[in-house]
Amino acid sequence: MIRLYVNVDHVATLREARKGLEPDPLLAALIAEKAGAYGITVHLREDRRHIQDEDVRRIREKIQIPLNLEMAPVEEMLAFAEQIRPDQVSLVPEKRQEITTEGGLNVCANENELLKMRERLQPLGIKFSLFVDPDIEQVTAAKRIGADSIELNTGAYSELVAGEEREKRLLEIKQASAHAKQIGLVVFAGHGLTAENVVAIAEIPEVEELNIGHNLIAQSIYHGLENTIKTMMTAINEGVSQR
Ligand code: PXP
Repeated sequence: MIRLYVNVDHVATLREARKGLEPDPLLAALIAEKAGAYGITVHLREDRRHIQDEDVRRIREKIQIPLNLEMAPVEEMLAFAEQIRPDQVSLVPEKRQEITTEGGLNVCANENELLKMRERLQPLGIKFSLFVDPDIEQVTAAKRIGADSIELNTGAYSELVAGEEREKRLLEIKQASAHAKQIGLVVFAGHGLTAENVVAIAEIPEVEELNIGHNLIAQSIYHGLENTIKTMMTAINEGVSQR
């Protein structure tokens, strides 16, 4: 069974559009838990565009399932993780101007810095994972610095429709997965996955965990809007009937 981590960032994206209280990523996390998610993922971005520090604290306190904290490899985030103690930290590169994560970490070029971060987090019982492109050199470097796992970036694969190009990207993910497992890394995957493109990823025998966010939140609007409109109409009619 693949362990599904539900990323609730974009519930907070919607809340931040109004800077109000709803929708609440904690409630979404509790629904995900009830639905059978293995864990919850939140990405605390440096610009706090969606998830806020307090969301992470509340989610950490209230959910029973594991919490995976995605964050940039910077001191501010390290100190926050040491305080919150998520079950797992996934380091991802971050650029202020990007709309979403654009690529994997350059582990090869930052081995010393990443190694020091691992040495701070693992002794606290926090699993240490690195988000990397499906690139053999990067995967090997992740092992060298002692990561527990890698999350393979499925972004380039997910952007494509079924066809020859997508098959090439899929092959890279398969090869990187096989290599990672062979050298002793646990393999996760994520970014841009949907119910259509996830099937081929879930077929890869080495993949143990998936991180999925945007598509789940987007689809839940379609699945939930009808009932929500009906509830609103009932409330309106209640008012009208009191006229
Ligand atoms: N994995 C990482 C490292 C990410 O940064 C993201 C997006 O926050 C995801 C997985 C989930 O991607 P998506 O929201 O497209 O499912």
